[in-house]
Amino acid sequence: MALLPIVTLGDPFLREPSREVMVEDLPSMQPFIDDLVETMVHANGAGLAAPQVGHGVRICAIWVKDNPRYPYKPNWPLTILVNPVLTPLSPETFVNYEGCLSVPNLRGEVERFAEIRVDALDRTGKPVGYEVRGLTAGTFQHECDHLDGLVFVDRVFNTKSLATWAEFEKHHMEKFATRARAIVAKWGS
Ligand code: NI
Repeated sequence: MALLPIVTLGDPFLREPSREVMVEDLPSMQPFIDDLVETMVHANGAGLAAPQVGHGVRICAIWVKDNPRYPYKPNWPLTILVNPVLTPLSPETFVNYEGCLSVPNLRGEVERFAEIRVDALDRTGKPVGYEVRGLTAGTFQHECDHLDGLVFVDRVFNTKSLATWAEFEKHHMEKFATRARAIVAKWGS
């Protein structure tokens, strides 16, 4: 396994829509998926999408386990999504304070659907479908945006919410953690 270099904001590759994965190509992509996960874990990411490490394919990883970058995020088991399609289950939204490994040292407020349905393949090519809610739904939407060449800063509706990580911790963390707890209480994740 290997750590992959993370593409950062400004690199045009991050803005390219990724291509669908053919199921028959998945066996040869397993080492890449392992590297994607290893890179995500090493960088303390809650998720990482293939285009963020220079591969233009519709694959992303999500894994939240007592994440130090997002201490209020509920844990979520390691999930690999291949060709994911997200469908909002209701118009209800919440405001998430997001960061991204491709946007070093910046966070900002983004509106996300509170309840989504996920349809995808797992890493073996098996179709999976389930519903995700709350902060975890926000993580799924953030990662799947990367597959369309979108970055969270595109969705920041109030640029005055933009903050470096140090200033976020100093001025916004406590307030957002309270809001995050309410989101988790309401949606269960
Ligand atoms: Ni990201």
